Amino acid sequence: MSNIQTETQSVTYRCPSNIALVKYWGKKEGGVQLPANPSISWTLNDLFAETTVFASPKKEENQKVEFFLDGKPKPSFEPKIHTFLQRISSIVPVVSQWDLRIESKNTFPHGAGIASSAAGFGALALCMVDLEGDLQPGSTEFYQKVSICARLGSGSACRSMFEGAGIWGELDSIPGSSDEYAISFPFEIHSRLKNWKDAVLIVDDGEKKVSSTQGHDLLKSHAYAHARFEQASKNLTELSEVLQNGNVERFVELVESEALQLHAMMMSSIPYYLLIRPNTLAIIEKIWAKREEVHWEMAFTLDAGANVHLLYNSEQEDDIMNFIDAELLPYCKNQLYLCSAIGGGPLKLN
Ligand code: DP6
Repeated sequence: MSNIQTETQSVTYRCPSNIALVKYWGKKEGGVQLPANPSISWTLNDLFAETTVFASPKKEENQKVEFFLDGKPKPSFEPKIHTFLQRISSIVPVVSQWDLRIESKNTFPHGAGIASSAAGFGALALCMVDLEGDLQPGSTEFYQKVSICARLGSGSACRSMFEGAGIWGELDSIPGSSDEYAISFPFEIHSRLKNWKDAVLIVDDGEKKVSSTQGHDLLKSHAYAHARFEQASKNLTELSEVLQNGNVERFVELVESEALQLHAMMMSSIPYYLLIRPNTLAIIEKIWAKREEVHWEMAFTLDAGANVHLLYNSEQEDDIMNFIDAELLPYCKNQLYLCSAIGGGPLKLN
């Protein structure tokens, strides 16, 4: 039974963002936010959102929802939040009885071109399921329900609930996998792929010309959609093996190929579009040239934007930092890059 609430309650959660290794790109027809192919991500525990939700019994027929980002009202985000609340209302019915004040902030600079929806909707979903009070926070059932709700806000958000790696989307080779929610990577990760980090090289901090949601939509009539969905499933099955056996060379190939396939799908959609910029390519070329020369364990990946995520084995951190400073910073907007370890999941802060 949900809490019967007479006064304002509040809760605060920190939720990390994530970077996909095998990309979610395309949604299944006939469901709400179900992925056309399975995906896997690493959790970026230093790039997170912190959200406090104040919930009080509704005063009027229409629910009041206010959203603040970094202390400032952001009415432009409210329609997305209303859609989210409406979608989760059958799963967390009590939400429709509350007036809500939502206060959020991110560790990464707003407008750095980093997708904040995964961390933001993840944190919001954590607060909602916690406030409902039906499940023990931190339990498997709790995270499963949170992951379902987060997915209904933004698909990739459902993978942010797990330490290390999260998998979303049904796949025979991954026991327990589901289209409805993400699960923690169910196997032991090899020591060679365990302590990696991500340096996000900021190439463009502007608003994207085509949002991810619009990009997913274009897959519905995409000539290569079917082949891409098949390829993603194959890549995930193989990447799962690679994460267990520590074959770094193959890891690098799979991850970089996934990033390029994602952007190849954008370039071959109708209408076609480009999110990578000349500096994205310059950074990729530099990474390839350096790897050829020194054989460091590093791979690039991209999300739906121009920024480059440089994933690397933290044993080589000093070398990689010197390499970024000397060779990659000139291609970064305002010389900006952000670092995160791969690791910890969400945290309840009060
Ligand atoms: C390229 O989760 O942002 O980052 O479900 O429409 O909110 P919606 O899309 P979103 O798409 C993310 C796409 C991606 C790949 C990934 O994270 O798997």
